[in-house]
Amino acid sequence: MVTDAVIVVVGYLVGSIPFGVVVVRLARGEDIRAHGSGNIGASNVWRTYGRSLGIPVALLDVVKGLVPALVGLEVGGEWVGVLAGAAAMAGHARPVWLRFAKGGKMVATAGGVSFALAPVAAALCLLVWVATFALFRYASLASLVTAVALPALSLLLGEPWPTVALALAACAGVIVLHRENIRRLLDGSESRFSRSRRPTA
Ligand code: G3P
Repeated sequence: MVTDAVIVVVGYLVGSIPFGVVVVRLARGEDIRAHGSGNIGASNVWRTYGRSLGIPVALLDVVKGLVPALVGLEVGGEWVGVLAGAAAMAGHARPVWLRFAKGGKMVATAGGVSFALAPVAAALCLLVWVATFALFRYASLASLVTAVALPALSLLLGEPWPTVALALAACAGVIVLHRENIRRLLDGSESRFSRSRRPTA
């Protein structure tokens, strides 16, 4: 029981590591929050600085969701994996290391958690994200479509109900965290990736 609680708390602390802020600070000496959408996630890092920083941030944000969920699953079972994953996602959205200021929009971290708890659904979601992004070039739109696909696929694939519940909560959280993106998508002012992956807005 104590071990399970420690895993969940450490999951939150690991999820709180703002890799977008850390990587950009180390590589460029700048604050990613002052650029582009102001988001600390990989999409904004990629649009602003290119793939050389975008890819490492994306991978690190995935890993910080994957590892706590995997450890929780292995050590304590389904529920501990789900709670540790949820804690990592909460940490990404409201990082203690940024004094609970606005963090990221949870997509990559939720992806990592899903790869630990529901790998087939996560792999299909990755395909959904890539296909939507390839068609429209909006990271936010790809994330929103994928967020809806995650609980649907988890349910269809017969994942355990705590995992389906977490997928539903992740979907709701991602939509809420993208409310500004939704407004910009609707009024046509959302930043789009160009084919050369340079910012266009
Ligand atoms: O994963 C975040 C993405 O869906 C949106 O990020 O920077 O375009 O607001 P951004």
